[in-house]
Amino acid sequence: MSSTKSISLIVCITFFFSILFRSSSAQTVVKASYWFPESEFPVTDIDSSLFTHLFCAFANLNSQTNQVTVSTTNQPKFSNFTQTVQRRNPSVQTFLSIGGGIANQSAFASMASNPTSRKSFIDSSIRVARSNGFHGLDLDWEYPSSAAEMSNFGTLLREWRLSVAAEANSTARPRLLLAAAVFYSYSYYSVLYPVQAVANSLDWVNLMAYDFYGPGWSTVTGPPAALFDPSNAGPSGDAGVRAWIQGGLPASQLVLGFPLYGYAWRLANSNINSYSAATTGPAISPDGSIGYGQIKKFIVDNGARMVYNSTVVGDYSYAGTTWIGYDDNQSIVTKVRYAKQRGLRGYFSWHVGADDNSTLSRAASRAWDATAATTVIRRKF
Ligand SMILES: *[C@@H]1O[C@H](CO)[C@@H](O)[C@H](O)[C@H]1NC(C)=O
Ligand SMILES: *[C@@H]1O[C@H](CO)[C@@H](O)[C@H](O)[C@H]1NC(C)=O
Ligand SMILES: *[C@@H]1O[C@H](CO)[C@@H](O)[C@H](O)[C@H]1NC(C)=O
Ligand SMILES: *[C@@H]1O[C@H](CO)[C@@H](O)[C@H](O)[C@H]1NC(C)=O
Ligand SMILES: *[C@@H]1O[C@H](CO)[C@@H](O)[C@H](O)[C@H]1NC(C)=O
Ligand SMILES: *[C@@H]1O[C@H](CO)[C@@H](O)[C@H](O)[C@H]1NC(C)=O
Repeated sequence: MSSTKSISLIVCITFFFSILFRSSSAQTVVKASYWFPESEFPVTDIDSSLFTHLFCAFANLNSQTNQVTVSTTNQPKFSNFTQTVQRRNPSVQTFLSIGGGIANQSAFASMASNPTSRKSFIDSSIRVARSNGFHGLDLDWEYPSSAAEMSNFGTLLREWRLSVAAEANSTARPRLLLAAAVFYSYSYYSVLYPVQAVANSLDWVNLMAYDFYGPGWSTVTGPPAALFDPSNAGPSGDAGVRAWIQGGLPASQLVLGFPLYGYAWRLANSNINSYSAATTGPAISPDGSIGYGQIKKFIVDNGARMVYNSTVVGDYSYAGTTWIGYDDNQSIVTKVRYAKQRGLRGYFSWHVGADDNSTLSRAASRAWDATAATTVIRRKF
């Protein structure tokens, strides 16, 4: 009797662990970055061995037909993207990203608002992804910005998921992966994302936890992509992650974004070079944005001072009246450790071409591998 009991207990435990193992191994880690042709960074220069997923940006939404299209300029590069990045890493998976920050946002709102145009979008997105060899689709609608738009966004995601599942079934191919780049927080200026539709429909979301401070919208210096805000009053990556989880999205569907670029301001007074320093506008480029590779060059050329702030997890460097807020090695490594320790799916960067000979991408990949994952007790058990 007692031996029967212990055998059935062992069977039970074995079964439990096999389920646990299967459910965790089915969740692929995400170490990702975005590439876009305007960066002029050759696809052949991407060290894809440092990534599990690469996002090719952007396909367009035609506001007349509601179809997803790739411009004729981008077509040759996009159609070769997957085979090119798979040369160095045959298992890397690729996404076609649709939209982006400078896309016509009202075209997305209009498309998502009715069933016929949603179907045009969905069917064409699948066609374009398949015909160009991508493994997944990524929606970068920045941002659904009213309750109605959020609700339509949710409907779109549900229909999209059903369609990619049906297409996989009817073609006997692996299902296209679905992701979306979303606001760093679950609340977009008090309009909430449709978290249940996101959780049920997307493989994960890319949290754009950057652009918090920049000369275009902040007259004082600030950390562009702080992980923490000690005052808890402003934006931060951690505040965004906590908001999404409190809103109901499992941590395992969150991918934390960080920038491989910074913002340069012109200081009003070169003696005041900390955060919250008064400025007179952007420096170095029209909007102040500057890639990490160029920041390293600026530092060397100007003998600029470098400061890592471990409270916010961000770096800045300054010389004369130029002040640059950015993420250097230590910030990136700290963010990657944070993501792994909090049970997030992974991390991504924008954008791969801004790195300095893959330095930060390599540091991020190593930091992820070297960090022990927190044992997460999943809700379904
Ligand atoms: C794309 O790949 C094809 C076949 O490998 C090649 O002939 C073509 O030159 C490539 N196009 C570009 C733009 O790299
Ligand atoms: C943007 O999309 C809206 C809605 O579809 C459309 O009316 C408008 O013409 C588009 N604007 C541009 C510049 O294409
Ligand atoms: C899968 O495909 C089969 C045959 O094509 C069909 O009978 C079935 O309904 C499909 N299932 C789903 C979930 O689409
Ligand atoms: C780091 O940033 C915080 C928040 O702005 C600030 O209070 C603190 O003094 C900074 N620490 C250092 C060492 O600069
Ligand atoms: C990056 O930072 C980590 C953590 O501080 C450190 O272990 C590593 O040596 C650094 N790498 C570089 C290239 O500075
Ligand atoms: C780029 O990084 C690789 C690997 O660390 C190194 O071997 C190579 O010398 C670097 N190239 C340059 C130009 O710094």
